[in-house]
Amino acid sequence: MTATDPDSLLAMMQNRRSVRTGYREDKPVSDADLRLVLEAGRAAPSAGNGQPWEFIVIREKETRHAIADLFKKQLQDKLELERTIRGKASVGGSVGFRLAPVHILQLGDPRTALSFPLRTQEEKADSHFFSSLANALLQMMLMAESLGLSTQYVSDVSSPYFSLMLKHMLGIPRDLRVYHLMPLGYSEEKPEASARRPLEAMVHFERYDPAKERSQADVERFVAQGTIQSTQYNWGTSKKG
Ligand SMILES: Cc1cc2nc3c(=O)[nH]c(=O)nc-3n(C[C@H](O)[C@H](O)[C@H](O)COP(=O)(O)O)c2cc1C
Repeated sequence: MTATDPDSLLAMMQNRRSVRTGYREDKPVSDADLRLVLEAGRAAPSAGNGQPWEFIVIREKETRHAIADLFKKQLQDKLELERTIRGKASVGGSVGFRLAPVHILQLGDPRTALSFPLRTQEEKADSHFFSSLANALLQMMLMAESLGLSTQYVSDVSSPYFSLMLKHMLGIPRDLRVYHLMPLGYSEEKPEASARRPLEAMVHFERYDPAKERSQADVERFVAQGTIQSTQYNWGTSKKG
């Protein structure tokens, strides 16, 4: 096996998008591709090699749609908060993911913090737990991208109402935490990339470069223009080229 060509690897990372619409429910993901995606998650680095993750693979249509219905329901107070306080709601409210033929629900076992040194357990149990879970999720997303499959983040699954309902629905033990849902499938749509900050603006050589320090106003301008708070943010409707 040859080493991955770095330009291709970078291009693949740059091409991955959060795909929220256009999923083809009628186009299944093969068991072989699903396995590759899961193996990519399994290969991820984790703090203390604690491997806190577990994955529930959901193909059943009824369950996937029930999850999407729960998503819609739990969104209401989130939308109300945004609309009332901010006067607008910039949240990922699409339930297009219900049509993704596979949902991978990622769980985490916080008891694996026992694998950390004692001081680390005291001071970093939470951040190490979430960083490790995020590594596995991103590796799965990148493997999916390499297979021509689309994915997205559904992070609301970890909120109290949603996660307890999911635990009840799927028989998830109490000690585990619901982390993220990753829909997986072929989609006919892919949103254009939202711009990333220029490399020169975020990289400092040898010492922090004070010329690059952002003021509060700079950050607020960036948030308004370059993040999901921007009216230009593309939640996804562009057709795949
Ligand atoms: C920790 C995390 C949580 C996210 N949660 C959601 C989510 O709940 N719903 C959603 O539509 N996108 C979610 N996203 C996707 C981001 O909005 C997206 O990655 C970002 O806007 C950049 O777009 P891209 O993924 O297409 O490059 C999440 C991303 C991360 C890293």
